Amino acid sequence: MTSSSLPFRVGYGEDAHRLGAGHPLVLGGVTVPSERGAEAHSDGDVILHTLADALLSGVAAGDIGQYFPDTDAAWKDLDSARIVSRVLDIVRERGYALGNLALVVTLDRPKLGPLRADIAANVARLCGLAPAEVGLSFKTSEGLAPDHVQARATVLLVRADD
Ligand code: C5P
Ligand code: MG
Repeated sequence: MTSSSLPFRVGYGEDAHRLGAGHPLVLGGVTVPSERGAEAHSDGDVILHTLADALLSGVAAGDIGQYFPDTDAAWKDLDSARIVSRVLDIVRERGYALGNLALVVTLDRPKLGPLRADIAANVARLCGLAPAEVGLSFKTSEGLAPDHVQARATVLLVRADD
């Protein structure tokens, strides 16, 4: 249990990767048809990495680099669902449960709107939430960051009953 007795805690996270040819574009565990994907040590899933950092920040437990160092070969090409699962355990160990989450993905191309329901459903499944608890917004960078995919997340954590 954490020493916090707050009934609610907020968490926030961000992640970004450069886009490159020959990499899959994986968002919330869903592979998005795209000519370019995230250049990354792991699967480069900015939604799940952002979510993991938001969860850890919500219980003031550092960030995913401490738990999953990108210099560690064991984490190369790691399925990010495993990162989220481990981080949800840490949140639970500290006495909190995930209430709802809000995600924003910034990506110029391709359009993600058609995949909103699929991505939200998969993120909800990984988090043990109903899809209605997963808010998912998509934005372009208006050409300011055409070679990057970025995500930001806010989570609401609810204190579990003792
Ligand atoms: O960034 P902007 O406000 O111009 O985006 C307009 C709309 O395009 C967004 O509200 C979102 O619904 C959609 N969009 C999308 N996929 C993206 C970026 C934006 O579906 N990669
Ligand atoms: Mg706009």
